Amino acid sequence: MAAATAAQLSSAASVAALSTTKAGKVGFSSSNGILSSTKGLGLAPPLSPVHKLRLGKTVCQAAAAGGRVPDMGKRVLMNWLLAGAVSLPVAGMAGPYLYFFVPQGSGGAGGGVTAKDELGNDVIASKWVKAHSSGDRSLAQGLKGDPTYIVVEDQGQIATFGINAVCTHLGCVVPWNKAENKFICPCHGSQYNNQGKVVRGPAPLSLALAHTDIVDDKVILTPWTETDFRTGGDPWWS
Ligand code: FES
Repeated sequence: MAAATAAQLSSAASVAALSTTKAGKVGFSSSNGILSSTKGLGLAPPLSPVHKLRLGKTVCQAAAAGGRVPDMGKRVLMNWLLAGAVSLPVAGMAGPYLYFFVPQGSGGAGGGVTAKDELGNDVIASKWVKAHSSGDRSLAQGLKGDPTYIVVEDQGQIATFGINAVCTHLGCVVPWNKAENKFICPCHGSQYNNQGKVVRGPAPLSLALAHTDIVDDKVILTPWTETDFRTGGDPWWS
């Protein structure tokens, strides 16, 4: 009896849904029984079964994906972590590159630099005088990276001045000629005495000077800004 009544109600509902849909007024969803809009209400037409299926899949996919999308706070945090992960290696590479452009000249006493030997090591005064005899003039790297002669005096001590080896004519490095007791430029024949004072052209000026000091057994070079003791004039290089 109950089953028959349910069947009759279902049949009646189907007939009612069919008749009202054909009349264009009201329709019922056969799947969930929710009242849907129709042309009879002046709204959008009912979706076809294919559209409902596609819409259902889309809604399901959006709902599933919605569970995996992080909220704004997490996304901001992830952006910051990404920026940090990228910036650290970039800063690590950029630091040495930028340091390359920092001029030498800091780190020594009075704004000077520690003289460097041919291997780039600090010049140690005690070792230098053992390796270089009295009267020796040997090159080291000095102020602004210029080749600079360290002078060993007759008493076996390092002189208080160094001699810049860059020729004042056109910039060749002037070698020390021990036999002639002079600096003789191979480029155009300019000559300088054993203190770097020009004695023959075409070089117009004497070789530049730098102060040398011994600090913690290291040879420190600083700019020479006082009177040039060789000429009694102002230093042309400062
Ligand atoms: S560069 Fe030294 S004499 Fe010309």
